[in-house]
Amino acid sequence: MSSYDVIIIGSGPGGYVAAIRCAQLGLKTACVEGRDTLGGTCLNVGCIPSKALLHASHMLHEAEHNFAEMGLKGKSPSVDWKQMLAYKQSTIDTNTKGIEFLFKKNKIDWIKGWATVPEAGKVKVGDEVHQAKNIIIATGSEPASLPGVDVDEKVVVTSTGALELGKVPKKLVVIGAGVIGLELGSVYARLGSEVTVVEFLDAITPGMDPEVQKTFQRMLKKQGFTFIMGAAVQGTTATKTKAKVTYKLRKDDSEHTIDADVVLVSTGRKPFTDGLGLDKLGLEMTKRGQIVVNDHWETSVKGIYAIGDVIEGPMLAHKAEDEGMAAAEVIAGQHGHVNYGVIPGVIYTHPEVANVGETEATLKEAGRAYKVGKFSFMGNARAKAVFAGDGFVKILADKETDRILGAHIIGPGAGDLIHEVCVAMEFGASAQDLAMTCHAHPTYSEAVREAALACGDGAIHM
Ligand code: FAD
Ligand code: NAI
Repeated sequence: MSSYDVIIIGSGPGGYVAAIRCAQLGLKTACVEGRDTLGGTCLNVGCIPSKALLHASHMLHEAEHNFAEMGLKGKSPSVDWKQMLAYKQSTIDTNTKGIEFLFKKNKIDWIKGWATVPEAGKVKVGDEVHQAKNIIIATGSEPASLPGVDVDEKVVVTSTGALELGKVPKKLVVIGAGVIGLELGSVYARLGSEVTVVEFLDAITPGMDPEVQKTFQRMLKKQGFTFIMGAAVQGTTATKTKAKVTYKLRKDDSEHTIDADVVLVSTGRKPFTDGLGLDKLGLEMTKRGQIVVNDHWETSVKGIYAIGDVIEGPMLAHKAEDEGMAAAEVIAGQHGHVNYGVIPGVIYTHPEVANVGETEATLKEAGRAYKVGKFSFMGNARAKAVFAGDGFVKILADKETDRILGAHIIGPGAGDLIHEVCVAMEFGASAQDLAMTCHAHPTYSEAVREAALACGDGAIHM
């Protein structure tokens, strides 16, 4: 029987980062992973493969739509889907092998197999029981199911199946206008699929700034998306090559059917705890199946911690990573901390959409007086030069103190631009602090500064 200071169950961004931090802090560490490769959902069937396909398909879009105007003439590239999937796989492989390398470098034992926790201090994998002073559960999440919809991962697919379809479908129906539906919908729309999104609510990307929602939906429509809003999906029927999706419009309860070659079910994800034996341990859970933790990521059972998608909060890789680092630091006797008020969210469509902190809705609800500084990318020279003038930066600041409370960006490089605001928020900066910082010209970042200027005496280029 081997014994460790910490055993982490799951090697996604939460688990592998926790393992590395534990090892760096001098703890004898092992990580159990049931998949054949490390990296969890994120590296194998999530963030990384989806971004590879988004990148490749965006290149095609640029060639088809913008090359000629820049004087780049010639035949547009055609799609070799098999090769695109091979490129995606090579991206996965280099990243998952990278984690293997980091485990070796940090002397972390990878225990291969599926773990159960028979009692606090013990982790069972196969027939072997390992001792652990501390256990971190980082088992992530899986796609949520939808009543009446049977997923076969060929015709009716989750994101996992959508990342490895046999061919590019002629008609793709996406259920749910959330992050997965719009990112993977974008991939296939660019590759030539007719994409129809069926969404229960009246706006896409729930919880996001309403102005961003409207602008984003308008841009996606321009890219060929069709939206059926306010529609509750009732179910699907499928043969080996075709499917039908039935939905009811909420406004009049009328029932409709739409044909598809492939249906992508992207209506959210749920925590994954199957097989861990948590019920026997008596671990406190939420009604939504998340493991309850205190502000040190410790569960209701002493010595057992949980992080990432399996606990409450946004299901994001960087949130899981931050919790992994913080939980490791707590176990090592340090003061691990995560600022949940400053966790950015990014949608990697074209253009990108990014947000951090409060929205106007949450500020109104809290009765907090705020001001808005907005700047359109139309006033940004660099954005216009690359056909990316559509979109804006919006900064929300406290009306009295000018302290930055949130930011919402739709436009070029939004996923990188947002971090300037995140750092400013971590330092408790005012909009004026951002506005007074010299920004290089010509950069997209100038639009962030202009939005900060707009919180005060006014933007210059508007
Ligand atoms: P996971 O990454 O889910 O890892 C959990 C691991 O635990 C898995 O490898 C699983 O095999 C293993 N495991 C489970 N049970 C056991 C057991 N009993 N024994 C051994 N091993 C076990 N987030 C972003 O921030 N940015 C993105 O761009 C992004 N894109 C995404 C795209 C898609 C298509 C999807 C599906 C998700 C995306 N996400 C993205 C979300 C992100 O992948 C998750 O938030 C993140 O992976 C959660 O990390 P985790 O460590 O909590 O769990
Ligand atoms: P989501 O929660 O983002 O969106 C689900 C959508 O489905 C919602 O708009 C909801 O109203 C709709 N819906 C629910 N039931 C429906 C029904 N019966 N009929 C029609 N519409 C219905 O979930 P999604 O896209 O599956 O993503 C899951 C998680 O993965 C998210 O929490 C996200 O954080 C994470 N993720 C993050 C990415 C990123 O950071 N770029 C990329 C992909 C996933």
